[in-house]
Amino acid sequence: MIITSCGNSEYIARGLAKKLKAKYSPLTIAAFPDGDLYLRFNASLQGKKVVIVQSFYPHPDMSLFDVVFASKTARELGAKKIILVAPYLAYMRQDKRFHPGECVSSMVMAGLLNDYVDKIITIDPHLHRYKSLKNIFKISAVRLTANGLLGEYIKKKYQPLRNNLVVIGPDWESYQWAEDIAQIVGVPATVLEKTRLSSWEVHSKMVHPIPIKGKDVVIVDDIISTGRTIAEAARQAKSMGAKSIRTVGVHGIFVEDAIEKMKKAGVVDIVSTNCIDKENSKIDVTPLLVEELKKER
Ligand code: R5P
Repeated sequence: MIITSCGNSEYIARGLAKKLKAKYSPLTIAAFPDGDLYLRFNASLQGKKVVIVQSFYPHPDMSLFDVVFASKTARELGAKKIILVAPYLAYMRQDKRFHPGECVSSMVMAGLLNDYVDKIITIDPHLHRYKSLKNIFKISAVRLTANGLLGEYIKKKYQPLRNNLVVIGPDWESYQWAEDIAQIVGVPATVLEKTRLSSWEVHSKMVHPIPIKGKDVVIVDDIISTGRTIAEAARQAKSMGAKSIRTVGVHGIFVEDAIEKMKKAGVVDIVSTNCIDKENSKIDVTPLLVEELKKER
């Protein structure tokens, strides 16, 4: 087995190679003067399982393109099996034609990977309207969840607050992970009902309310992008008398002033996994991926 990376997930790729005692050989990726992609493998792939580790952020479009070029090349160089480890898989949110004429990007992304990769392993992909990755992938597609890691992190880091914690999911879909995580921590959970007015504006209110007054609230979500969903949920919790508000998410994209926005709404601690490598990435997902890849040894 050879572990390689296209640049976005080097920390995880190195960690996987170390734990799996596999060779780590990063790709050389550059651009020709006109901007054309240059890509080169630096190890022999003949007869090997090649694991390409690449989160699709930053630059979701180039990330996908890199993977397609790398996979096609790996096949030509004799790789036995090509496994894509995409801790964060972009393009999953456009999972239907919301408006006439729109591209269903998730289908296009999956279609490309179906053609070039043998297997994909990802973490908490945005499955809202799709029930399973099988709805878009023909190849073997493994969906891991970081719920366990998030739960353990909250339990340990916020131990002094433990008896006063509640977990909130910012929308209906988030109940799947809010409930799981709350169970691991051993505290109550509820969700808000979110109305997304546009990519840039969301409103939310609590359904089936649980007591929030005086509580230390942890808002959990799969993706934190503009931070508006979390900020809105935080304002809601604050208006219900929450004592403090923290947020722990799986994929911390944190575009533009997301962090500032959440802080302004009263969020005192913002944490994510390293599916996307940022300064708030305090939860390492490597152990999850190691267990899955051990099946390939
Ligand atoms: C939406 O369905 C997701 O679960 C997240 O709540 C959403 O992607 C967060 O986006 P933003 O941070 O831009 O509000």
